Amino acid sequence: MTEQVSGQVAAVVILAAGAGTRMRSTRSKLLHAVAGQSLLSHAVDAADALAPQRLVVVVGHEREQVAAHLAEIAPHALTAVQEQQRGTGDAVRCGLAALEASEGEVVVTMGDVPLLTGETLAELVSQHRATGDAVTILSSELDDPTGYGRIVRDDDGDQVAAIVEQRDCTPEQATIREINAGIYVFDGPVLRDGLASLTADNDQGELYLTDVVRFARSAGRGVHSHVLEDRWQTEGVNDRVQLAALNREYNRRIVEEWQRAGVTVVDPATTWIHASVDLGTDVTLLPGTSLEGATTIAAGATIGPDTTLTDVEVGEGATVIRTHGSLAVIGDGATVGPYSFLRPGTQLGVRGKIGAFVETKNAVIGDGAKVPHLTYCGDAEVGEGANIGAGTIFANYDGVSKSTTVIGRHSFVGSNSVLVAPVTVADGSYVAAGSALTDDVDPGQLAIARARQRNIPGWVETRRGDTRTWQAAREAINNEGA
Ligand code: UD1
Ligand code: CA
Repeated sequence: MTEQVSGQVAAVVILAAGAGTRMRSTRSKLLHAVAGQSLLSHAVDAADALAPQRLVVVVGHEREQVAAHLAEIAPHALTAVQEQQRGTGDAVRCGLAALEASEGEVVVTMGDVPLLTGETLAELVSQHRATGDAVTILSSELDDPTGYGRIVRDDDGDQVAAIVEQRDCTPEQATIREINAGIYVFDGPVLRDGLASLTADNDQGELYLTDVVRFARSAGRGVHSHVLEDRWQTEGVNDRVQLAALNREYNRRIVEEWQRAGVTVVDPATTWIHASVDLGTDVTLLPGTSLEGATTIAAGATIGPDTTLTDVEVGEGATVIRTHGSLAVIGDGATVGPYSFLRPGTQLGVRGKIGAFVETKNAVIGDGAKVPHLTYCGDAEVGEGANIGAGTIFANYDGVSKSTTVIGRHSFVGSNSVLVAPVTVADGSYVAAGSALTDDVDPGQLAIARARQRNIPGWVETRRGDTRTWQAAREAINNEGA
């Protein structure tokens, strides 16, 4: 989808040293998630779409957390430490110091704008190349530009003369609605020389990256802005209200893409789909469905309502109702739920069934096998076509270690049985209801592992002689006699 930029840019510098105070969090702002992915990893994805020669992330506040996270999600990225937050110009200086050379194009972006796409960065680079400018600025027009740096143009309205921060604006400049998104492409040498020339001669006493624009113009070089219609892409996260708003918008975009690709989403407002999820044609998602991680849903399957699946593979035409699942595989045409809990290692075969109030873990359940009601099925192999009665418990844990239960093909476990692992019920055998099974069962056998029933005649008369129960018994006995 990303527009291809021919020829690599020399570097992308992601600014991520800020404090993020308004999140009021013990975690770095950049580790908070949109669509299950940290803000920083969204920034890295957009940068990686350009395939830059170098990717540098400038860290400062909570830098141990940020650097550790970065090592996990983007081991190819370099980190540069900005000890003191002396402004965006200082931050980029720190970033450039981590690079050997400053030739070529340098893209500067921010760690906290999760909706920015690689496509937009590629457009910015394309324009930069087409004009031969020294600086290309991503901008957008806002009804309320309060707080942003304003794009001040030349008298003829073509080139950008300067970027002026809100607090440094004249009343007239403050009325400008075109704002600086804080995302740029620079000619490397101009950036290096411009940064060297910065002074903290402004209201905040900081080194402003934006002053490189004036530097480039006075050196006789060109500067244009690239106005982006889609303002969401330039919106940053400063607090948790914005985090939720951007998360919702990001999700709305993913949901809409899937709808256009042939997925029925009954209620987009309560359906959440991570970017990493894959859906087939004619999948139906009912309200309250959340699909996360590496989840894949094959054609014609119906998921929901109120279902969360993380790293789950669902087969064609399967139905998953009111279920919580992770790291599980559900076969073609299988049915799951309502109220099922599928834990890691669950594999349900073709047209198999996991029913109401069933918890499974590390359980391979064969094609056409059924675990329909009220069961704990852990550390199990259930053969093809087997039927597990209501209320069966696979007792897999003896307090020290876990053991496996094997149920053979087309075998039948009666209701309310306890299968004390390790135990094997062979192919084609039965376990009587209410059994507490401790020994293996051979093919063709019926195992009965419970006390035989004993009826004591006259017990109600002798022990409960004065009760309505005895009255009822007497009437029944007399009627029988009549
Ligand atoms: C900056 C721009 C402004 C633009 C706005 C867009 C400057 C001087 N102003 O303002 O024109 O409209 O972004 O959001 O650049 N950072 C560091 N180290 C620092 C300072 C900042 O890494 O010393 C990082 C922050 O973590 C953040 C980004 O740079 O990711 C922007 O910093 P911020 O302080 O939010 O800049 P603004 O004042 O909003
Ligand atoms: Ca900001």
